[in-house]
Amino acid sequence: MQNVLITGGAGFIGSNFSRYILQKYPDYRVVVYDKLTYAGNLENLCDLRGDPRFTFVRGDIADAALVDRVMREHSIDCIVNFAAETHVDRSLLEPGSFIMTDVYGTYVLLEAARKYQVERYHQVSTDEVYGAKLEGRSVESDPLDSRSPYSASKAGGDLLVLSYYTSFGLPVTITRGSNNIGPYQYPEKVVPLFITNAIDDQPLPIYGDGQQMRDYQYVLDHCEGIDVVLHRGQPGQVYNVGTEVETRNLDMARLILDLVGKPYSLIQHVTDRPGHDRRYALDCSRLRALGWRSRHSFAEALEKTVRWYLENEAWWRPIKEGSYYREYYARNYGHRQVLAKG
Ligand code: NAD
Ligand code: DAU
Repeated sequence: MQNVLITGGAGFIGSNFSRYILQKYPDYRVVVYDKLTYAGNLENLCDLRGDPRFTFVRGDIADAALVDRVMREHSIDCIVNFAAETHVDRSLLEPGSFIMTDVYGTYVLLEAARKYQVERYHQVSTDEVYGAKLEGRSVESDPLDSRSPYSASKAGGDLLVLSYYTSFGLPVTITRGSNNIGPYQYPEKVVPLFITNAIDDQPLPIYGDGQQMRDYQYVLDHCEGIDVVLHRGQPGQVYNVGTEVETRNLDMARLILDLVGKPYSLIQHVTDRPGHDRRYALDCSRLRALGWRSRHSFAEALEKTVRWYLENEAWWRPIKEGSYYREYYARNYGHRQVLAKG
């Protein structure tokens, strides 16, 4: 494995992963293939531009002809697929692009992987495919119970990936990660949204009662988990990746306000997200058996993340001030009622 195609590598996790792989494996070459949707940003990769082992290609994973050309021209022997539409709220507003990218795009990549006989096809998936887990923890063999169009399209991708193992013997692996936080996360996701709103003294819109729980993991811990599965995971297997510690949204918001030094009165409870899953919780023992450990507690991950956003206003402010973001914000939040404050 030497020539790695990282699809969606200009997004949040994919850009962190591209940097991680180039640093860790001096003999690897990385081709980032990314459509540069609103969530893709070449600034996320700016420090890699001069590296002779790094190439960027702008393209859609659903474009079979371009994917084929890139596979051939770069002698790709491994695909790691991060490319996806990723925001649950947007999937409730416009599901079509989720199906095109997360399902059909995955199929196009699988066909290319098959044609070029890659050593590994790795699919980056999500804990959301298991659905809400009010008690206990989801294990990899649990049935899928997707409840949002985002989750359903990711589940569709996962099932296709596994079918290529069973039907064609393609050496595939899947990781299902919990919520990532860290540098370069687009400020529509709750943690960077709340940090940047807090910096600007803007309200933090908590959906519903704020008692929903998520497992927030540091992005580089997730990248390390994907790397371990890529190199030591068993073909045909799924691996959960998370910290196995869940935090309530309201507690997460208060911690952010403490770290930024702003009052709890910025919290506003607003109309809930439809179909809002109350809790996700993963059992990660299968990945731990390969020697992986999550290195950051939630407090450490959040502290590093807040510091990064405080020090990198030049990265996020142009995004938040752009008309694309402002229109989305009005569309997603404008109609929500304020239920309570503080
Ligand atoms: P992101 O939204 O920050 O980045 C997605 C990237 O994919 C962007 O660069 C975008 O331009 C690109 N992209 C979108 N459609 C494309 C297409 N058709 N062709 C090529 N590129 C396309 O997402 P992220 O948070 O970095 O998530 C990456 C992957 O990890 C996704 O598959 C997501 O489902 C999964 N995941 C995310 C989290 C999380 O907490 N963020 C947790 C678990 C799993
Ligand atoms: O669990 C992994 C998933 O985590 C990834 O697969 C997704 O790509 C990623 O977006 C994320 O999904 P969530 O829906 O959990 O993340 P989000 O940041 O949108 O929301 C986290 C929690 O915060 C959730 O309970 C909803 C709540 N929330 C979110 C927003 C945007 C609010 O209370 N207010 C908000 O404004």
